[in-house]
Amino acid sequence: MKYIAEPFKIKVVEPLRMTTAEERREAMERAYFNGFALRAEEVYIDLQTDSGTGAMTNTQWAAIMVGDESYSGARSYYHLMKVAEDLFGYAYNQPVHQGRAAEKVVFPVLTKPGQYWLSNTFFDTTRGHVGLAGGRPVDLVCPEGLDTSTYADFKGDADVEAMERFIVEHGVDQIAGIVMTITNNTVGGQPVSVGNLRAVRALADQYGLLVILDAARFAENAMFVKQREAEFADSTIEQITRESFAQADLFIMSAKKDAIVNMGGMIGVRDNEEIVGKLKSNVIAFEGYLTYGGLAGRDLEALAVGLREALDEDYLRYRLGQGQYLGARLEKAGVPFQNPVGGHGVFVDAGKLLPHIPWQQFPGHALAVELYLEAGIRSCDIGSLLMDRDPVTHEPQQAPAEFTRLAIPRRVYTQAHLDVVADALEAIAARADQVPGYEITWEPPVLRHFTAHLRPVKP
Ligand code: F0G
Repeated sequence: MKYIAEPFKIKVVEPLRMTTAEERREAMERAYFNGFALRAEEVYIDLQTDSGTGAMTNTQWAAIMVGDESYSGARSYYHLMKVAEDLFGYAYNQPVHQGRAAEKVVFPVLTKPGQYWLSNTFFDTTRGHVGLAGGRPVDLVCPEGLDTSTYADFKGDADVEAMERFIVEHGVDQIAGIVMTITNNTVGGQPVSVGNLRAVRALADQYGLLVILDAARFAENAMFVKQREAEFADSTIEQITRESFAQADLFIMSAKKDAIVNMGGMIGVRDNEEIVGKLKSNVIAFEGYLTYGGLAGRDLEALAVGLREALDEDYLRYRLGQGQYLGARLEKAGVPFQNPVGGHGVFVDAGKLLPHIPWQQFPGHALAVELYLEAGIRSCDIGSLLMDRDPVTHEPQQAPAEFTRLAIPRRVYTQAHLDVVADALEAIAARADQVPGYEITWEPPVLRHFTAHLRPVKP
C-alpha cells in the first residue's frame, strides 16, 4: 500500500515535545492511568480524536478575519446558509456550537416518553441525548459490522430487516424514528451505502417515520460510496452528498469532523415548518439567537469555507489513504483491526491482540495506556470501559467489541508519524502477553471513561 502524498504544503507548524519513558510513566501514574487526564503537552502523537483537531486551510484562516460579529443577521450567517442550501438541499439550516448541541435541541422535540429510536449505531453523546429526551436508543447494525476480521464494503449499514421486525414487534406508535450515522463511528468509522440509506427511507415511508442523518463524517462517507458503490463511480462528492441527504428528513452534524473547524455544528430540516418552529425555541434557549447559534461570526465563516473544501476529492483520497496506509502496516505486523479501515482512523481489535485480558479489565483501554507508555501516543478505548454500567442494575456491561481507536486528525500528521504509531504497536504485539489489564479505583455515575481512575491489575 503506497502512501498517498499530501495534496497541500505546510505553512505553519506547531512544535511537539519529546518525552522519555520515565516521564511518560510518571505522567500516566499522575493521570490515574486515564489518557483524558494527561496534559496534551505530555503527548507526542495525539490520536485521541479527529474532532476539532484538524488543520484548517489558509482560506479558512483568511475567512476568520472577515467573520462578521453582528449579534443578528451577520453576513457570515448568510454565507453559511448559502453553502448549506447548495450542498444539502434542505429548506432550513441552523448553526449550533457542536454536534451534541444539535442533539440537545432536536431529540426533545421529536421524542415522546418511552419511544424507541432505531439506528445503524448511535454515537455515545447521541445515545445519551436520546435517553435524556426520554427515548430508548436501539442499535441495529448489519451483521458484518461486528465481524472485525472479514472485509465488507459497507459495514456501517443498518440491518433494515431487523429494523422492520422491531417496528412490527413493538408497534409503530412506540417508534420515534430512525437515526443513520454516516460514517458509523462506533463500529469503526465504517461507511453506509446510499443503497442502505434508500432502503431505510423506504421503510420509514412505509411506517410514517422520520429519518435523521447524524452526518459528522458525510464527506468521508461520500468518498467511500464513490469508491465502492458502482452506481456512483462517476458521481461527484457533491452529488453523492445530495443523494444521501435526500433520504432523510433532518440532519444533525458535528462540524468538528469533516467540515474541519475547531468548533461548530449544524441542524437541517428538509421541509417541515412545524418541526422548525419547535427547534427554533430550543436553539434560542440553549444556543443563542438563530443567526449565530452559539458560534462566533468568525466560526460561521470558517465553517462555510470548510464545508465546501471538505468535498475535494484529492484531499479525501489522501485522507482515507492515511488510515489505509496505517492499516496495511498493522496487517503486516499481525496486529488485528476492524477490516477494512474506517474513514477517520484505525480501530485496533484489542480483544484479539490481548486475549489474556478479560473484558472486565478493559483490553481496549489497556492497549491505549501501553501505546502511551511505549511512544507517547494517545488513543482511546471504544469498548467495555466506554460502556457505562447498566443504569438499573449497575452491573458492568460488555461492549460488542474491544477496540482501541487510533483516530487520525485531518491534515495534522505525516507518514513518518504514522510509522511511529505502527512501530510502537508492532513492539507491543511482540510482548502482548505482558500487557496488564486495568481495574477502576474510582468512577462517576455516568460517562465514566472521561474521568475514571484506574490501576494496572497485577497478573
Ligand atoms: N455524532 C457523531 C457520529 C460523533 O462522532 C460525534 C463526536 C458527535 C455526534 C458529537 O459531536 O463532539 O461535536 O458534540 N465524536 C467525537 C469523537 C467526540 O471523538 O468521535 P460533538
